[in-house]
Amino acid sequence: MVEPAGPATADAFARAVLIGLRQPQKVIPARFFYDEAGSALFEAITQLPEYYPTRTEAAILADCAAAIAAAVGPGRAVIEYGSGSSAKTPLLLRPLAAAAYVPVDISGEFLNQSAAALAVQFPHLPILPVVADFTRPFALPAQVAARPRLGFFPGSTIGNLAPGAAIDLLRGFASLLGPESWLVIGFDLAPGAGKSVATLEAAYDDAAGVTAAFNRNLLHRINRELAGTVRVDDFAHRAVWNAALGRIEMHLVARRDTQFTAAGQNFRLAAGETIHTENSHKWTPAEIRLMAHASGWTPAHAWTDNADRFTVQLWRHHDGALQP
Ligand code: AVJ
Repeated sequence: MVEPAGPATADAFARAVLIGLRQPQKVIPARFFYDEAGSALFEAITQLPEYYPTRTEAAILADCAAAIAAAVGPGRAVIEYGSGSSAKTPLLLRPLAAAAYVPVDISGEFLNQSAAALAVQFPHLPILPVVADFTRPFALPAQVAARPRLGFFPGSTIGNLAPGAAIDLLRGFASLLGPESWLVIGFDLAPGAGKSVATLEAAYDDAAGVTAAFNRNLLHRINRELAGTVRVDDFAHRAVWNAALGRIEMHLVARRDTQFTAAGQNFRLAAGETIHTENSHKWTPAEIRLMAHASGWTPAHAWTDNADRFTVQLWRHHDGALQP
């Protein structure tokens, strides 16, 4: 989830901005949130009173990790996708008797820091970080070639993807992890009995304005990296539940007519026009089951907090599951 620093990134960001701001609905992809400032703001978001997903998932994991360990058995290589700070990893690893831990993240620097911190807590566990964009094919370290695998994909990171892309990604996990594998995955649930739309929207528009700063950081990033002249105060943060598409959308809304240059080109927004910066999909239990079956997995167990806000699930690779 974190972009590496350096020329390649500046290029990718420049390209995304130049293309995205020429669309009828202006857009900057959410993966560009995570420069150094954005990553720090995201860590702050996870501590906010309104942002329930992180603490809810951690509480569920603390409760279900022993059951997961009992189901999958010892000696597995744990592959964590988009490991970031690896904050939830100890909850899973503690009861597990894993053979190795393979954190996969696009930010090498973040990865090495988190791996070092984890090594202190698990001195006997081989930790084998892989710097990779997990949405593309990558190779596992040779040391785990012969080990059965357990994939770990917490944080509802999958929410940034529309259902079709989510299925493609989960199918890729199934083929990399192999026939005897399991997957532990977190989903933020759609509003319903236990969660109002207001709760959901507040999680993306907190009173302290941290999420607004996280969103506006994209504009600062344009100014920093693309010699931009964006008047950041001309933009307001907006987070809305799109019921038809089952997602929270974040936008940067022009408060007035405004114009700027970025990477040598001119851009103009009329008052009220928006830049769409993130989709965060929320799922019903039925949609989650469909996605599992469509991507080569069989749901084995699901755990949910008592307010029905978030679910952590254990899926078995379809070819390894018992068939009638
Ligand atoms: C990291 C994608 C799971 O969608 O909740 C938090 C990102 N954006 N607040 C989410 C995010 C605004 C987060 N994910």
